[in-house]
Amino acid sequence: MKHSFDITDNEFELLKGLIYNQTGICLDDCKKAFLASRLKKRLASLHLNSFREYYNYLIGHPRGQKEMMQMISLITTGKTEFFREEEHFKFLTTNVFPYFLKRTIANQRRPELYIWSAGCSTGEEAYSLAMVTNDFFNVYPYWQIEILATDIDIEALNKAKAGIYTEKEISSLPLTYRKRYFHKIEPQKFKANDTLRRLITFKYLNLSTAPFYFGRKFDVIFCRNVIIYLHPEIKKKIIQGFYTTLADDGFLFLGHSESLLSLDRGLFSLVTPSIYQKASLGISSNARL
Ligand SMILES: C[S@@+](CC[C@H](N)C(=O)[O-])C[C@H]1O[C@@H](n2cnc3c(N)ncnc32)[C@H](O)[C@@H]1O
Repeated sequence: MKHSFDITDNEFELLKGLIYNQTGICLDDCKKAFLASRLKKRLASLHLNSFREYYNYLIGHPRGQKEMMQMISLITTGKTEFFREEEHFKFLTTNVFPYFLKRTIANQRRPELYIWSAGCSTGEEAYSLAMVTNDFFNVYPYWQIEILATDIDIEALNKAKAGIYTEKEISSLPLTYRKRYFHKIEPQKFKANDTLRRLITFKYLNLSTAPFYFGRKFDVIFCRNVIIYLHPEIKKKIIQGFYTTLADDGFLFLGHSESLLSLDRGLFSLVTPSIYQKASLGISSNARL
């Protein structure tokens, strides 16, 4: 039988609704051709004849949930690179880390730093965080550092966990980091050293299921170039979730083209464009950064 891989308006609406419910990702009507082209190989491989059949498979077949994960991998945008939006990493080492050091000494708090890379894609952001954190806290070995890195895309997470990158992928990495934190495993492949891997835990997490339940608060959350793809209502829920899961003076980093404008209702104060600090009752503004 001939496969019909054209997507009708009705099929697009069904899949768009399903994707929104599962991920919070908001597909504009202009994404119809994009969706069809990303998913047509799944139809072929499952021997399905239309997007309607694919939709039915996703919601009704015993393997539908597994297929949903594959579909999410295909439709998410995983573009990332090491030290993407580099100023954020500079800001961490010149402002945020010294602030936490000082605060910990002044308030006799436990020397701990918990960072969350929310929407980590294939891991470059989390490894970049691990490199700058390790460099900075190397001389304070009693500090406990942990980085949680999460994403909804299982395939991206598998790559992140493996920590193996091609020559091209690590080309944005300054040579000094490359030499100290990666080793060659094949002619064109480099693997992150255990020093970095020990700091990071990669996990599946769908941000649209906020609020989040962690056994701890985070000092820093990086959620960059993620909420831009999500529906405004889901964004609000996630920002509220970040507020609850951040420590009282914790920092939230968004992508350069993102902002909390009209989303946060005074939960955060703007430190510098795209970087926010939690606005907590009981912490005076001169005790902040
Ligand atoms: C463009 S990448 C950003 C990667 C990295 N943060 C950066 O800025 O380089 C966006 C990531 O957000 C993830 N994502 C999209 N919707 C998500 C959701 N509902 N929950 C968790 N991750 C999501 C995608 O799978 C993708 O890996």
